[in-house]
Amino acid sequence: MTKLLGLFVLLLGAALVAADQDYEGYRIYEVTPETALQGQLLHQLSLQGFDFLSESRLLGRPSRVIVSPAQLAQFEELLEGQQLAHSLINDNLGASIAEEFALRQLQRRLCPITGKGRLSTERYYTHEEIINYIDDLAERYPRRVFVRTVGWSYEKRVLKTITITNGDGRAGKKVIFMDGGFHAREWISPAAVLYVIDQLVEQFEQNADLLEDYDWVILPLVNADGYEHSQSGTLARMWRKTRQPYTYAGQTCYGADPNRNFGFHWNEEGASSNPCADTFAGPTPFSEPETIVVRDLMHTLADRGVMYLTIHSYGNYILYPWGWTSDLPDTWEDLDAVARTGAEAIENATGTVYTYGSSTNVLYIAAGASDDYGFYAGFNVSITMELTGAGSIGFNPPVTRIDEFVTETWIGIRAMAEKLIEIY
Ligand code: ARG
Ligand code: ZN
Repeated sequence: MTKLLGLFVLLLGAALVAADQDYEGYRIYEVTPETALQGQLLHQLSLQGFDFLSESRLLGRPSRVIVSPAQLAQFEELLEGQQLAHSLINDNLGASIAEEFALRQLQRRLCPITGKGRLSTERYYTHEEIINYIDDLAERYPRRVFVRTVGWSYEKRVLKTITITNGDGRAGKKVIFMDGGFHAREWISPAAVLYVIDQLVEQFEQNADLLEDYDWVILPLVNADGYEHSQSGTLARMWRKTRQPYTYAGQTCYGADPNRNFGFHWNEEGASSNPCADTFAGPTPFSEPETIVVRDLMHTLADRGVMYLTIHSYGNYILYPWGWTSDLPDTWEDLDAVARTGAEAIENATGTVYTYGSSTNVLYIAAGASDDYGFYAGFNVSITMELTGAGSIGFNPPVTRIDEFVTETWIGIRAMAEKLIEIY
């Protein structure tokens, strides 16, 4: 073990990459730990700033990690020395990002900015388009749809929720609170949330059962600044965090990980105190205006709140608390039943296998996330969904596959909501 730790320290120097860069010559490896020691080793790498695109602590489940040219020789030595099963997924991340960006530019010209009427699943939308879209829905369905300004991002982008009801005017219904776009680069997340909104509003007749005793409150894009940044150019495509600047040892780095910034067992495990790290917990709990918005919504809704659902990518997981400890909550069987229902519905319909369980036990321990906070604040069920990954990076499903992934996600969400209605 000491020999291993020595290696970690060697690797550490070049590991922090949380800034805009071109990723020229960077590689993506898929690594599949088969022994507990190999699993620990991978987890150590992630704590030291290696950017894991997906990570699981389940043996035999693949994780994906970015390796820079400077890290490569040592990383390969590690693979060899530890006999880690691996394959090279992408041998030049920079080229993949450039290619995706060029395609997007082209598509922008073919498929111009909208914001009125139904959104297609043919492309990824901007923050402004998403806001225009929900505003337009509220105008078109004034009896069923309500849009409210709930705050502003650090760079002063407006954050709005859309509340979807069945229009019967009954107050005090139970609530499902859902959000997307915590992590900037996970573009499929807001896309999936927009599809849920479309189903509940435009396809109301088919989904009226989900709105009989429940209102749905949805914040489609939490990390608006980060999302816009990740769309701004190739160098920013892999951005994850918010955009508030922090200066540390004379160096300015941007943003905190919003999913490590919640004030419940904050920064205890699986987060970094270094502002340049991708999992920076922030200088204090709720240092980010965006997480304050989510926190305040949770407390406002908690006494009616039955389920909190937050959408990330990728890895095909349905996760429930806790993320700060491997202990399970007393009501874990209910959480497990809801998660299992979602996973089974998706697998039956599409064949896609979702793994479900408590996030510490399935993924890794990581405190300060929104799912733990929502559960602590009083939601009976709290779920993080990690959607399907695709494309050369995993975060970049080609636009031709958006439809497939958002409909698959909706099948899972619909099934979980039905189960919830049955239990609560
Ligand atoms: N991929 C997500 C993240 O790292 C998973 C969060 C799971 N929840 C948790 N409480 N750790 O933010
Ligand atoms: Zn995420």
